[in-house]
Parts: sequence; C-alpha cells; structure tokens
Amino acid sequence: MDLHLAGKTAVVTGGSKGIGLALVRTLLAEGMRVVTASRTITAGLKETAAVPVTVDLSTAHGPAELVDRALVELGGIDLLVNNVGVGDTDDFAKGARLNLIELPDDVWEHTFNLHFYSALRVSRAALPSLVERRGTIINVSSVGARSVAAGPADYNVSKAALSALTKVLAEQFGGKGVRAITVSPGPVGTGVWTDPDGFVGRMAKEQGVPHDALVEQILAASGVTTGRVATPEEVARLIAFLASPNNITGSEYFVDGGMIKNV
Ligand SMILES: NC(=O)c1ccc[n+]([C@@H]2O[C@H](COP(=O)([O-])OP(=O)(O)OC[C@H]3O[C@@H](n4cnc5c(N)ncnc54)[C@H](OP(=O)(O)O)[C@@H]3O)[C@@H](O)[C@H]2O)c1
Repeated sequence: MDLHLAGKTAVVTGGSKGIGLALVRTLLAEGMRVVTASRTITAGLKETAAVPVTVDLSTAHGPAELVDRALVELGGIDLLVNNVGVGDTDDFAKGARLNLIELPDDVWEHTFNLHFYSALRVSRAALPSLVERRGTIINVSSVGARSVAAGPADYNVSKAALSALTKVLAEQFGGKGVRAITVSPGPVGTGVWTDPDGFVGRMAKEQGVPHDALVEQILAASGVTTGRVATPEEVARLIAFLASPNNITGSEYFVDGGMIKNV
C-alpha cells in the first residue's frame, strides 16, 4: 500500500529508542526525510539516515531550538509526531508510588514539561510550517489518559491534557488544512517494560519476583486480552498510516491489546 509519504518531511520527538526509533525507521522506509530529537544519540539512531538533534525537550527553550534546526534541515515540516515521554524511571516510579499528598510539585512540573508542554511548544513553533504545507500532528498519548486513577497520577493527568490538546489543535487548525490525531498505546515492549533497569524491571527486583512473571501479572491485571505487549513497530505502522493523506482528524486510536473496555 502506497502511503504517499515519499519525499515528505517529518519531525519525531523522542526518536533515539523505543517507539520513536521504530517510527523513524518506518518513516524513512516510506521515503520521508526525518529529523529526530532526544538528549542522547543511540547506536540504533546513528545507523539510520535521520538527522538527530540533541536537545532537552522538557526545557522552555528546547522545543523552539528543535524546530529551528528542523526547518534548516528540511525546509518545512509535513508531519510532527510528539512522541517524547517516560524519560527517567525515577520520576515515573515516584508517580506510581506516591499519593497526591506525597507527590511534590517538582515531579508534577517535570512530568508536565516533558509530556504536555513539550508537545504544546513544539507544535506552536512548527504550526506556521504545518499550515503552509497542510501537515499533520500526531500526539503519542497513553491508555493512562483514559484510566487516570490507575498508575502514576502525574503521568496519566499529563497524558489526558495531551489528548485534550489534540482536540484543540484539530479544531483550531482543521480549517487551515492541518490534521491532529492522538495515538494511545497500552503496554509496548520498549525499555520501560523490557530493560532490567527500566520501570517494570526495577519493580520486579524490588518485589523479588522474575521480570517475565511480573510482566504477565501486570498484563492480566490490566485486562490486556491479547496477553502480550505490543511491539514498537506495531505502533509505528499505525502512526505512518494515520500520517498518510486522509480525512481523519481529532480522533484517538489505541494499540492496547484490548485494555480499554468502554465504548
Ligand atoms: N512503552 C509503553 O508501554 C508506552 C505505553 C503508553 C504510552 N507510551 C508513550 O509512548 C512514548 C514513547 O515511549 P517509549 O516507551 O518508546 O519510551 P522510551 O523507550 O523511554 O523512549 C523515550 C524517548 O524520549 C527521549 N527523551 C526522554 N526524555 C527526553 C527529554 N527530556 N528531551 C528529549 N528527549 C527525551 C528518549 O531519548 P533520550 O533518553 O536520549 O533523551 C527516547 O528517545 C512516550 O510518550 C510514552 O509515554 C509508551
């Protein structure tokens, strides 16, 4: 199936590993030119033809720096994927462990800067070019935005804000030809789940249980009916399809193995 992406340009935030890196590879394979953003450049990213920009997107100035570089490299932006997230396991673990009285402002602020403000700021800087090219913004949210009370509160609430931002972008810029879509993964086999020092790996060590057994236990408790985590490539393929020319905007798509039960 020709997605009609060849020759177009993309900016992918958080493209050095996980879902972002799988997406970079997918978009390059479709013939797109890609700029990525992350704090480090991994061996996997180096092997691709993407132009890597090292930047901390949780800062106020990082997003504009990224878009300035992307416009120099690409000449304009057809697709922006706001994928950056999770970041450091410590923050994620605090959000999962502490209740609202205990979870301090600095954790909330960092989580919102990384997941919500980065997307708002990168989108704002990229919008003039996206409007000119009738482009697309895809925000990578989470099933956590639909079940905010389960899991890290700061993360889930920031993802709910991100999903809401998609609706505003679709509404305000749809008339100018820009589409905005949310993709909400459930469990995806990135370092968060697979790395022994990632979020789930550390939980397994703390609880003294085998890593694999804990993954299975969480999947069952979360109602993942397929019984497995998704692959980063499965999420990347959906994003590539949504980026192809179509009339989809303002909607949310899940890759969650059946986790979300409500209609
Ligand atoms: N994996 C899951 O189960 C899952 C489920 C639902 C939603 N999601 C969402 O999917 C997205 C990708 O998750 P993932 O699992 O692929 O995460 P990941 O493997 O941890 O990758 C995160 C990416 O973001 C970059 N990053 C982190 N902090 C950054 C910062 N301050 N500035 C710039 N780049 C930064 C990382 O690169 P550096 O470390 O080099 O900066 C990396 O490229 C996230 O938004 C996450 O919330 C994931």
